[in-house]
Amino acid sequence: MTADPFVDWFRRSSPYIHAHRGRTFVIQFGGEAVADPNFAHLIHDIALLHGLGIRLVLVHGARPQIEERLRQRGVEMSYVHGLRITDAPALLCVKEAAGAVRVDVEALLSLGLANSPMAGARIQVASGNFITARPIGVREGVDYGHTGMVRRVDVQALEQRLRSGAIALIPPIGYSPTGEVFNLSAADVATSVAIALGADKLISLLEGDGILDDQGRLISNLIPAEVDKLVQREEDVGEETRQQLAAAAKACRSGVKRIHLLRRQSDGALLRELFTRDGAGTMLTAEPYEGLRRARLDDVGGILELLAPLEHKGILVRRSREVLETEIDRFTLVERDGMVIACAALYPYPEESMAELACLAVDRDYRNGGRGDTLLKFMEQSAREAAIKNLFVLTTQAAHWFLERGFEPMELDALPMQRRQLYNLQRNSKVFNKAL
Ligand SMILES: CC(C)(COP(=O)(O)OP(=O)(O)OC[C@H]1O[C@@H](n2cnc3c(N)ncnc32)[C@H](O)[C@@H]1OP(=O)(O)O)[C@@H](O)C(=O)NCCC(=O)NCCS
Repeated sequence: MTADPFVDWFRRSSPYIHAHRGRTFVIQFGGEAVADPNFAHLIHDIALLHGLGIRLVLVHGARPQIEERLRQRGVEMSYVHGLRITDAPALLCVKEAAGAVRVDVEALLSLGLANSPMAGARIQVASGNFITARPIGVREGVDYGHTGMVRRVDVQALEQRLRSGAIALIPPIGYSPTGEVFNLSAADVATSVAIALGADKLISLLEGDGILDDQGRLISNLIPAEVDKLVQREEDVGEETRQQLAAAAKACRSGVKRIHLLRRQSDGALLRELFTRDGAGTMLTAEPYEGLRRARLDDVGGILELLAPLEHKGILVRRSREVLETEIDRFTLVERDGMVIACAALYPYPEESMAELACLAVDRDYRNGGRGDTLLKFMEQSAREAAIKNLFVLTTQAAHWFLERGFEPMELDALPMQRRQLYNLQRNSKVFNKAL
């Protein structure tokens, strides 16, 4: 660390700069972003990403711009089941609005005044007919007109533009082989493009407060299964966010490695998310989430499954479901994508300031990944917090594992009296102790 916060900050962002170079990011934002007086800041940040060698595809929406034009003509867009109906006058507004937004974005990306952050940037923008669409058609008797959905993305054409160093800009519009124009949702376009390109990231800049849990706190990590649950919590998730979440889950399940959902109004969120460790928004990954936590009653089934093969081989002492249920508070576990993959239990003997570490087990498929160590450290810490001075363990087959982690052989006599009485001579377990 240097005393200069700038130098310090710049050095800390360097791993991210290296990691992002040459990657493909799809960035989606709504027409609201374009209408915002601060839109230039967002565009400057995007230009910076481009300057750092990131291949960018921008997908914009145009809803407020479309609605404004409809209002001027005294018409309204109608929605059925959250889906808009695009009739002929509405389509005209869509075309005009999408064209206007495109020009605004291109203008800002072309800026190059000497005293602006864009000085010397010289960015090429490539827009075009990258999206083939088809009509949504008639559903439950409702004709959605020119509202469409993505049918195909012209990956070759997009790749060509990206290779030439341009930023691709895609409107929420698609064309059909019959020469028609369709009004698409920006989320559909962004997701389809990210999937088709095999993008490294899909970044959606959302209107509103971002993705919050039921207590109003920002959720920083999600996996698709959790998104499915959130989407069902309809009452607290607006239609717009719901569609974005569903699109993000789809992208994730279709191979886009990371999907970032950011609050568009938060200035600089894009840079914070990409260049700091903690990020600024919600990241959706397919990699299963893994975490350590105390066990609950509904974990009994999972723990039984984990322990059964070890009990079968005589490595661990058998515990019935009833025993586990009454002792569940003593267990801590490692959960991965909803499955129990490791556990350990702590049985305190407060009078002797001792505790037994028992049932330490890691699922076969997840051994040698440091989980045993993590659990041990956590249990040691919990024991210390409970004023335990000595942590002992009885083992038949993992003696060296414990020896290598600071445990020492201990005589049976040194066990708490109560535990000595339970000692099973036949198992002939070895006893080890670690002074905490
Ligand atoms: C012992 C156990 C909990 C370790 O969990 P883990 O997550 O695989 O362990 P870690 O990744 O933290 O450590 C792996 C290291 O321990 C070593 N190790 C694993 N099992 C061992 C054993 N039974 N004896 C000695 N060393 C062992 C590995 O070889 C590896 O060392 P290395 O990297 O130097 O080769 C796990 O193997 C297990 O569940 N065993 C069966 C149950 C058991 O015996 N529990 C203890 C009785 S309470």
